[in-house]
Amino acid sequence: MTRRRAYPLTVGLLFAACLGSRSGHAEGALLSVDQQGLNALIADGQAAAAFEWAFEAGDELSEFKFTGDQGVGANIGEGRRFTRIPRADLTGPGEWATHFPSREGGANATSCISCHSAPIANGAGGVAMNVVVDPGHTGDPRQYLERNTTPLFALSIPQRLAEEMSVELYLQREAARVQACKAGTATAELLAKSVSFGTLVLTRTGDDPCVVDTDTSGLTGIDADLVVRPFGWKGNHATLRSFTRGAAHNELGLQATELVGGEDGDFDGVIDELSVGDITALTIYMAALERPVSLVELNDIGLLEMKDADIRKVTAGENRFAKIGCSSCHTPSMSINDPVFREPSRVPGYVETLFPDGTNPADHALRWDTAVSFDMRSDQPNNLVILDSGEAYHLGALEVDAAGAGLAHWYTDLKRHDMGEALSDPSDPLGIGASMFLTRSLAGVGSTGPWLHDGRATTLNEAIEAHGGEGARSRAAYNLLTELQKAEVLAFLENLVIYHNDPDH
Ligand code: HEC
Ligand code: HEC
Repeated sequence: MTRRRAYPLTVGLLFAACLGSRSGHAEGALLSVDQQGLNALIADGQAAAAFEWAFEAGDELSEFKFTGDQGVGANIGEGRRFTRIPRADLTGPGEWATHFPSREGGANATSCISCHSAPIANGAGGVAMNVVVDPGHTGDPRQYLERNTTPLFALSIPQRLAEEMSVELYLQREAARVQACKAGTATAELLAKSVSFGTLVLTRTGDDPCVVDTDTSGLTGIDADLVVRPFGWKGNHATLRSFTRGAAHNELGLQATELVGGEDGDFDGVIDELSVGDITALTIYMAALERPVSLVELNDIGLLEMKDADIRKVTAGENRFAKIGCSSCHTPSMSINDPVFREPSRVPGYVETLFPDGTNPADHALRWDTAVSFDMRSDQPNNLVILDSGEAYHLGALEVDAAGAGLAHWYTDLKRHDMGEALSDPSDPLGIGASMFLTRSLAGVGSTGPWLHDGRATTLNEAIEAHGGEGARSRAAYNLLTELQKAEVLAFLENLVIYHNDPDH
């Protein structure tokens, strides 16, 4: 593969005045991001500069090797700072089981990219980076959950898709409420971006003002609040921000101010381990990372040469993927009508009225009217490549359709499915259902692996063979294919890759 030059991104001194010092940090260490500084730029009409600052700072934060001075790790007990095994047995003062908020696992690393590393920084992780969690503090290894590390590219895509889907569902619920108030009862067949989430049955139980009772037992693959949660193997986090805050706490033992206020919940002697601005920066960074691409796309723009026979194989595999029912869950494309990512979000269910520490985000300068934002069709800093023709091509940006709307090839319906007994978790601490998993996005799947929620599949073929429950029918259809036809499906999956154009090489 030949590499082309990309535009270097220069941010630098412009923001020096806005950078605050991380309290208690050694001189020369990473500076913390000041949310008020970001807001000041936005209020001053320099939204692009605020975005670039957040992205650059997020880049540094994601690869920075934090030290004890900065509060990485936690007081596990036994004099230790890290553990890969949940230790609900360590219940002494300040030890693992007494940390607040309650710890799920870890702390087990000093940087985000020590796990998110394959095939490149911000990617997935091998099984050695699997995370073991015990959210219920059972202390019983038979109930521990094992999780494989997922890639972090272009995560604005799942969040914006989820936000738009939820808005559709809220409107359908509201229409049904109005109908139930008129007619006594109403049923909403919920449909968002053509994905069905089952039914809501509303019954009027009081007049003037109208009161309705909502029966949520007909919902499928979504929580009763109709918030589509696009993050985590279980689909249990609505926003990048909330996932990031949890990852920083559980994996790195870095407790954000917004998580614990000024408290030292992991008893390591350091407080305010990540600022509100730091979490904003990490969020913006992962949201704006370059999108995964396909080999065929790289071939089309001349960054790679594929044989015609190989292209035909991928295309045949793509058609088969649809024919045997894979695409009924791994939705090949969805449009994003408003492809602007905003942190914080404006969408109910994705905007926090209170931080976990009980304070109001606005009191920490995190306000929707000064959201850090970027246009997903144009603003991603990475993978802006210069083609042989001399033309700049924004490979990192979201694709667009003929009408200019965002077009996401994310290969998921953002819905949870019952994947059957064999894939089931050994316990269900979140109450989601032990065998329920969010349809995993296949964007970049040809560059990651091992696959599935615990990394049990060492090949893509094994990953498909493991599909049970609601996935059993399409697995059976896959098994009816000839070896050649199976190879086409696999060629299609292997064609979905992570690509990073490194300007330094
Ligand atoms: C010890 C390994 C490890 C470290 C360190 C780590 N992660 Fe992760 N990350 C994981 C695993 C495992 C998952 C999948 C967890 C799940 O779904 O339950 C994950 C998932 C994620 C996701 C969800 C992606 C998606 O599409 O669902 C985000 C966002 C994320 N990590 C961000 C971070 C950030 C930011 C940091 C650093 C503050 C970090 N991670 C550090 C292992 C790690
Ligand atoms: C009923 C919905 C559903 C159908 C149909 C389905 N999948 Fe999946 N797929 C999922 C879910 C959910 C996961 C995550 C399961 C887990 O990790 O335990 C997944 C995971 C995968 C993975 C692993 C992704 C990773 O990053 O680890 C691959 C590859 C995959 N599916 C391919 C396929 C193919 C090919 C087909 C058609 C033969 C198919 N799927 C049909 C829901 C489905």
